[in-house]
Amino acid sequence: MKNLLEIQDAHVYIGSFYILQGISLVVPKGEVTLLLGRNGAGKTTTMKTILGIYPPKEGKIIFREEEITNLPTHKIVNKGIGYVPDTRRIFGTLTVEQNLIVSRRKATSHSEMQERLELIFDLFPDIRGFLKQKAGTLSGGQQQMLAVARALVNNNDLLLIDEPTEGLSPLLAKNLIASLSRLKEFATILLVEQNFRAVSKLGDNYYIIDSGKIAHEGNNMSELIEDKVLLAKYLGVSI
Ligand SMILES: Nc1ncnc2c1ncn2[C@@H]1O[C@H](COP(=O)(O)OP(=O)(O)O)[C@@H](O)[C@H]1O
Ligand SMILES: [Mg+2]
Repeated sequence: MKNLLEIQDAHVYIGSFYILQGISLVVPKGEVTLLLGRNGAGKTTTMKTILGIYPPKEGKIIFREEEITNLPTHKIVNKGIGYVPDTRRIFGTLTVEQNLIVSRRKATSHSEMQERLELIFDLFPDIRGFLKQKAGTLSGGQQQMLAVARALVNNNDLLLIDEPTEGLSPLLAKNLIASLSRLKEFATILLVEQNFRAVSKLGDNYYIIDSGKIAHEGNNMSELIEDKVLLAKYLGVSI
């Protein structure tokens, strides 16, 4: 199996609004696929479509060669899909440790979780020192690390990560992206970003979404980095 995930011509409505107007994309196993686009382009909606929160009216979602299009969200995530929402959704009044513990799914045994915690501490060494601290007291960068760590508690094959660098200083964004690049060894990633510069070196493939349609796609990141006209048009990168 080359592609872990495929979206085939998804048409998605939210209420009466026609939001995704025929999105097709593939996420090859073991790679980082970037979904780039401006604010309001349809990136988060694409993630929520994969997760069954906004099932497509037309089109298919295939995960590990199995159609998951109309499954309920809990069944989809139990197949091994981790989601890091743009809102981070951590529990501020719980400790970091409790935030990790409550993320464990039934299918993940306690001993498996211990192994996953070792991986988390290896990728994000700071987290070990914060375990007993209330998550709400962490800095923005630390909270984002925790949000990613929560998706790693279970052995997910695919991680959907929505705008991880949002609100982070350039240095913190750089550190986070460095940790995500090490994550590649363990999981396939579909990464949503507006901030092209932060993630340009992390991606193996990319899609640019604009007004609910794929405007451009490719797998030559260095060519994209050089294409200033395209970057200016769709990603607001100044020339
Ligand atoms: N719950 C909703 N109700 C109506 N429109 C929505 C809703 N959620 C998103 N939209 C619209 O769908 C479009 C895509 O939104 P979104 O997927 O969040 O964009 P992005 O993540 O790329 O910034 C936007 O025009 C947004 O206003
Ligand atoms: Mg979004």
